Amino acid sequence: MRILFVGDVMGEPGLRAVALHLPDLRDRYDLIIVNGENSARGKGLSRRAYRIIREAGADLVTLGNHAWDHKDAYALVETEPIIRALNYPPGTPGKGHWLLSAGGESLLVTQVMGRVYMGSFDDPFRGIDHLLAEVKADYVLVEVHAEVTSEKMAMGQYLDGRVSAMLGTHTHIPTADAGLLAKGTAYQTDVGMTGTYRSIIGGDTESFLARFLTARPQPFRSAEGPARLHATELVLQTAKSTRISPYVWEEP
Ligand SMILES: [Fe+2]
Ligand SMILES: [Fe+2]
Repeated sequence: MRILFVGDVMGEPGLRAVALHLPDLRDRYDLIIVNGENSARGKGLSRRAYRIIREAGADLVTLGNHAWDHKDAYALVETEPIIRALNYPPGTPGKGHWLLSAGGESLLVTQVMGRVYMGSFDDPFRGIDHLLAEVKADYVLVEVHAEVTSEKMAMGQYLDGRVSAMLGTHTHIPTADAGLLAKGTAYQTDVGMTGTYRSIIGGDTESFLARFLTARPQPFRSAEGPARLHATELVLQTAKSTRISPYVWEEP
């Protein structure tokens, strides 16, 4: 099973990268999963952003800590192939996992939120334990949406040998550690952002820099500039033949 996971789509440059390039990749993969938590001008998922991502070829859209920043998400998560984090409190709208299938095989996809510098979420470790006990699939992909590298690596080690792959998101900075853990789980601390890197994690440089220089709140603006698509490619077959490799495309 060949999967492409596209990292946090940020604002208009992110949507442009997805619209321009993802259709060209569609036939190379069985399934395409896209993190869309910042696609609505940096904050949340709007109907328009969702439509662009899906029309470009995504089978499933994931969210994150920005899940509820745009009001459209509340209706979208009820009817569309979208997941928000599994470890929100009971009663949260939407679903924390999704079953996809391709070529007669099934893929369970879930996302958990880290808790260090992220807020008061339920325990992501036990949350995944419960999910894995309940839902069976040929392959399992866990997206860990977290700020801190150690928390993500801890989750990777916790899940090694129990899931097919664990990919990190949220920091908007790709890490160069894609590879296999000791028991065969494919792992990368962060896939990186799909958006413009002439920015501060996708935010407009001037206003984001002013936060640091003035120590006062500043207006939120997502950046404009040449886009890059940052994704991670997974090939899942048996644990031994798993492959993971980063995929990067730059807007000409
Ligand atoms: Fe993000
Ligand atoms: Fe995030």
